Amino acid sequence: MADENETFRMLIEAARSASRKTYSPYSRYAVGSAVLTHDGRLFTGCNVENASYGATICAERTALVKAVSEGFTRFKAIAIVCGNAHDCWPCGICRQFICEFGTDIEVLVEGKDGAIKALRLAELLPHHFGPEHLSR
Ligand code: THU
Repeated sequence: MADENETFRMLIEAARSASRKTYSPYSRYAVGSAVLTHDGRLFTGCNVENASYGATICAERTALVKAVSEGFTRFKAIAIVCGNAHDCWPCGICRQFICEFGTDIEVLVEGKDGAIKALRLAELLPHHFGPEHLSR
Protein backbone atom coordinates (compact mmCIF):
# COMPACT_ATOMS: atom_id res chain seq x y z
CA MET A 1 0.00 0.00 0.00
CA ALA A 2 1.56 3.29 -1.14
CA ASP A 3 -0.03 5.30 1.66
CA GLU A 4 1.19 2.95 4.34
CA ASN A 5 4.71 2.94 2.87
CA GLU A 6 4.76 6.73 2.94
CA THR A 7 3.55 6.80 6.53
CA PHE A 8 6.15 4.23 7.57
CA ARG A 9 8.93 6.22 5.81
CA MET A 10 7.76 9.44 7.49
CA LEU A 11 7.88 7.72 10.89
CA ILE A 12 11.38 6.37 10.30
CA GLU A 13 12.59 9.83 9.26
CA ALA A 14 10.98 11.40 12.35
CA ALA A 15 12.74 8.78 14.50
CA ARG A 16 16.05 9.54 12.78
CA SER A 17 15.66 13.21 13.47
CA ALA A 18 14.76 12.49 17.14
CA SER A 19 17.94 10.39 17.45
CA ARG A 20 19.93 13.60 16.92
CA LYS A 21 18.61 14.86 20.26
CA THR A 22 19.98 11.84 22.14
CA TYR A 23 21.49 12.32 25.58
CA SER A 24 23.80 9.32 25.60
CA PRO A 25 27.20 10.37 26.97
CA TYR A 26 27.83 6.88 28.44
CA SER A 27 26.98 4.49 25.62
CA ARG A 28 27.30 7.02 22.79
CA TYR A 29 24.52 5.00 21.19
CA ALA A 30 21.99 7.41 19.72
CA VAL A 31 18.43 6.15 19.47
CA GLY A 32 15.34 7.95 18.20
CA SER A 33 11.72 6.89 18.08
CA ALA A 34 8.48 8.21 16.63
CA VAL A 35 5.01 7.00 17.53
CA LEU A 36 1.86 7.60 15.49
CA THR A 37 -1.50 7.80 17.24
CA HIS A 38 -4.77 6.56 15.75
CA ASP A 39 -5.85 10.13 15.21
CA GLY A 40 -2.72 11.03 13.27
CA ARG A 41 -0.63 12.72 15.97
CA LEU A 42 3.10 12.15 16.04
CA PHE A 43 5.30 12.04 19.16
CA THR A 44 9.05 11.57 19.11
CA GLY A 45 11.63 10.67 21.71
CA CYS A 46 15.30 9.86 22.17
CA ASN A 47 17.22 7.84 24.74
CA VAL A 48 18.11 9.80 27.86
CA GLU A 49 20.93 8.25 29.87
CA ASN A 50 21.84 8.79 33.50
CA ALA A 51 25.01 8.61 35.57
CA SER A 52 23.36 5.83 37.57
CA TYR A 53 22.99 3.90 34.29
CA GLY A 54 19.86 2.12 35.55
CA ALA A 55 17.77 5.28 35.39
CA THR A 56 18.31 5.49 31.63
CA ILE A 57 15.16 5.64 29.54
CA CYS A 58 15.03 4.30 25.99
CA ALA A 59 13.85 6.35 23.02
CA GLU A 60 10.66 4.31 22.54
CA ARG A 61 9.54 4.84 26.11
CA THR A 62 10.36 8.55 25.93
CA ALA A 63 8.12 8.89 22.86
CA LEU A 64 5.31 6.87 24.44
CA VAL A 65 5.48 8.71 27.75
CA LYS A 66 5.28 12.02 25.90
CA ALA A 67 2.18 10.83 24.04
CA VAL A 68 0.43 9.29 27.05
CA SER A 69 1.11 12.35 29.19
CA GLU A 70 -0.59 14.45 26.51
CA GLY A 71 -3.68 12.21 26.63
CA PHE A 72 -2.98 9.84 23.71
CA THR A 73 -3.03 6.09 24.33
CA ARG A 74 -4.14 4.58 21.00
CA PHE A 75 -1.21 3.91 18.71
CA LYS A 76 -0.88 2.62 15.15
CA ALA A 77 2.87 2.34 14.74
CA ILE A 78 6.20 3.09 16.39
CA ALA A 79 9.51 3.51 14.56
CA ILE A 80 13.00 3.12 16.01
CA VAL A 81 16.29 4.31 14.51
CA CYS A 82 19.75 3.81 16.06
CA GLY A 83 22.57 6.09 14.94
CA ASN A 84 24.46 4.27 12.22
CA ALA A 85 23.15 0.84 13.15
CA HIS A 86 20.29 -1.00 11.48
CA ASP A 87 17.62 -3.50 12.56
CA CYS A 88 17.17 -1.59 15.79
CA TRP A 89 14.37 -3.69 17.30
CA PRO A 90 13.17 -2.57 20.74
CA CYS A 91 14.68 -3.99 23.90
CA GLY A 92 12.60 -6.27 26.13
CA ILE A 93 11.48 -3.53 28.50
CA CYS A 94 10.30 -1.42 25.57
CA ARG A 95 8.43 -4.38 24.04
CA GLN A 96 6.58 -4.78 27.34
CA PHE A 97 5.94 -1.04 27.52
CA ILE A 98 4.51 -0.94 23.97
CA CYS A 99 2.41 -4.04 24.74
CA GLU A 100 0.49 -2.09 27.36
CA PHE A 101 -1.10 -0.09 24.55
CA GLY A 102 -1.86 -2.86 22.07
CA THR A 103 -0.45 -5.98 20.47
CA ASP A 104 -1.46 -4.80 16.97
CA ILE A 105 0.90 -1.82 17.01
CA GLU A 106 3.29 -1.99 14.06
CA VAL A 107 6.94 -1.76 15.09
CA LEU A 108 9.18 -0.35 12.35
CA VAL A 109 12.94 -0.47 11.90
CA GLU A 110 15.29 0.04 9.00
CA GLY A 111 17.21 -2.86 7.51
CA LYS A 112 20.80 -2.70 6.27
CA ASP A 113 19.66 -1.75 2.76
CA GLY A 114 17.44 1.04 4.07
CA ALA A 115 14.25 -0.95 3.51
CA ILE A 116 11.71 -0.70 6.30
CA LYS A 117 10.88 -3.83 8.27
CA ALA A 118 7.55 -3.97 10.10
CA LEU A 119 6.40 -6.48 12.70
CA ARG A 120 3.38 -6.32 14.96
CA LEU A 121 4.14 -6.13 18.67
CA ALA A 122 2.49 -9.56 19.11
CA GLU A 123 5.19 -11.02 16.85
CA LEU A 124 7.96 -9.41 18.89
CA LEU A 125 6.51 -10.42 22.25
CA PRO A 126 4.75 -13.76 21.95
CA HIS A 127 2.83 -15.11 24.95
CA HIS A 128 2.83 -11.60 26.36
CA PHE A 129 1.59 -10.46 29.73
CA GLY A 130 -0.73 -7.51 29.23
CA PRO A 131 -3.45 -5.44 30.85
CA GLU A 132 -6.12 -8.02 29.92
CA HIS A 133 -4.54 -10.40 32.44
CA LEU A 134 -5.40 -8.05 35.25
CA SER A 135 -8.95 -7.21 34.16
CA ARG A 136 -11.72 -8.61 36.27
N1 THU B 1 18.21 1.96 23.86
C1 THU B 1 17.04 2.50 23.38
O1 THU B 1 16.87 3.72 23.39
N2 THU B 1 16.10 1.66 22.90
C2 THU B 1 16.21 0.30 22.85
O2 THU B 1 15.25 -0.39 22.52
C3 THU B 1 17.51 -0.32 23.16
C4 THU B 1 18.48 0.53 23.89
C5 THU B 1 19.23 2.86 24.43
C6 THU B 1 19.40 2.75 25.92
C7 THU B 1 20.84 3.22 26.09
O3 THU B 1 20.83 4.64 26.20
C8 THU B 1 21.52 2.84 24.80
O4 THU B 1 20.49 2.58 23.87
C9 THU B 1 22.42 1.63 24.91
O5 THU B 1 21.75 0.56 25.46
